Amino acid sequence: VRTRHYKFNIKLQNVTRLCQTKSIVTVNGQFPGPRIIAREGDRVVIKVVNHVQNNISIHWHGIRQLRSGWADGPAYITQCPIQAGQSFVYNFTIIGQRGTLWWHAHISWLRSTLHGPIVILPKRHVPYPFPHPYKEIPIILGEWWKADTEAIINQAIQTGLAPNNSDAHTLNGLPGPLHNCAAKDTFKLKVQPGKTYLLRIINAALNDEMFFSIANHTLHVVEADAVYVKPFRTNIVLITPGQTTNVLLKTKSKTPNAKFVIASRPYATGPASFDNTTAIGFLEYKKHSLSNTKSKNHTLFRPKLPKFNDTIFAMNFNKKLHSLANKKFPAKVPKTVDRHFYFTVGLGISQCSKNQACQGPNNTRVAAAINNVSFVMPNTALLQAHFFNKSKGIFTTDFPTNPPHKFNYTSTPPKNIMVTSGTKVVVLPYNAKVELVLQDTNIIGAESHPLHLHGFNFFIVGQGNGNFDPKNDPSKFNLVDPVERNTAGVPSGGWVALRFLADNPGVWFMHCHLEVHTSWGLKMAWIVQDGKLHNQKLPPPPSDLPTC
Ligand code: C2O
Repeated sequence: VRTRHYKFNIKLQNVTRLCQTKSIVTVNGQFPGPRIIAREGDRVVIKVVNHVQNNISIHWHGIRQLRSGWADGPAYITQCPIQAGQSFVYNFTIIGQRGTLWWHAHISWLRSTLHGPIVILPKRHVPYPFPHPYKEIPIILGEWWKADTEAIINQAIQTGLAPNNSDAHTLNGLPGPLHNCAAKDTFKLKVQPGKTYLLRIINAALNDEMFFSIANHTLHVVEADAVYVKPFRTNIVLITPGQTTNVLLKTKSKTPNAKFVIASRPYATGPASFDNTTAIGFLEYKKHSLSNTKSKNHTLFRPKLPKFNDTIFAMNFNKKLHSLANKKFPAKVPKTVDRHFYFTVGLGISQCSKNQACQGPNNTRVAAAINNVSFVMPNTALLQAHFFNKSKGIFTTDFPTNPPHKFNYTSTPPKNIMVTSGTKVVVLPYNAKVELVLQDTNIIGAESHPLHLHGFNFFIVGQGNGNFDPKNDPSKFNLVDPVERNTAGVPSGGWVALRFLADNPGVWFMHCHLEVHTSWGLKMAWIVQDGKLHNQKLPPPPSDLPTC
């Protein structure tokens, strides 16, 4: 067990993509950002120093933060932002987790350029439950925006209209040869024949779920969101923003006279426009004998990706994921439930506030909501307000546990297109066994929503099309080996049922990981109360916690 120290200097850096140079906010001048590497059980200490004018906070996406909720990072939820010239030390221990996670800025849209991998190796001398890879390679799926993403979201909020789309998808920050000026900005994966590689795939895109594939190579999925899964083979991986997927790639036994395209492009079901570009990279075999070095005329193989709206593929892919659920890695699914929640998630509209120059019909704006509540960010951190018992005027505990209007996916009720707003939370007693059904709504177009819960992994015990049926669906729940993760795609026009044990005291954000939906209000927070014993309580805040 070690302590790993990192220093994140937040600073501007000029980066050129798609024939244009722009100044972006980075960690240590790197884009994508630096990799954090640790072992299960290690303490990680990251000093973040803010040298830019923007307010900053960093979230360690998927790290459970057991009793270290002050280090979780979402701005105005667990901390006030780190202001220009200030710093904050994130300090946490990685308990019971190993695999791929990632870190990203958690304020406004700054995560478009502030993100990077977190690699958690198993404890020393503990092997992977799959063949040991020859090499491990992170692959970050992201976007490139020609314009400043802060300007884009600020304008969208002002006008109440949808923001612009990104200009290119990227593999490790590189858009690839389908774009102008991008031939040199192409991701290349150089491999040896006859070896096994572990690809740690992260979807860091703001607004698009992605398909990922490598021509003529099968991917062997072994882990999702830093939890081992029952291995399965696929040619295509589907990954929502927020999710991470580890796959084994076995290279061909002999160096082929060919190059293989690596491609990533969106899965999108909504009516809205999206960035329908494809990021391309190449899988290339290293020349290992003289005879090979002469051959220039490589054959180029391309992968076949599903159609952008292939919901059947998406449903089937998600059904293949099961937790390993063996003796060493048991699936600790709550078998009984103390608290049931039924949340609708979707888009709607809301009345504009006075200081907005909204351009929607009848002074309305696009909004997004959970149970018709569009979440309003407080201007101080909820965790501090909760810890010091000062909720008055900051948040209320009346978040609806069920849809406020009679709900039916197939016919939109007349009243629930208009959403309400508030800073409402749900309070859970320590160790409550929670069941949460997330129902996608068709209020203004069915879109799938990758819901991310901070502070916990949940088990996806059920999923289906149409409306959740409380009479018949629960009897079909998988309580044996459901996949365990931190981000679940709520299917377009369908539902997922999650279970988790509320064993982590603090304030925990839950939101759609499509950043545009989060900005529109598709977010809420859970408060988990302290338990009675000393080791069931959240310790007091660190002394350098930023104030608002
Ligand atoms: Cu990856 Cu609340 O975020």
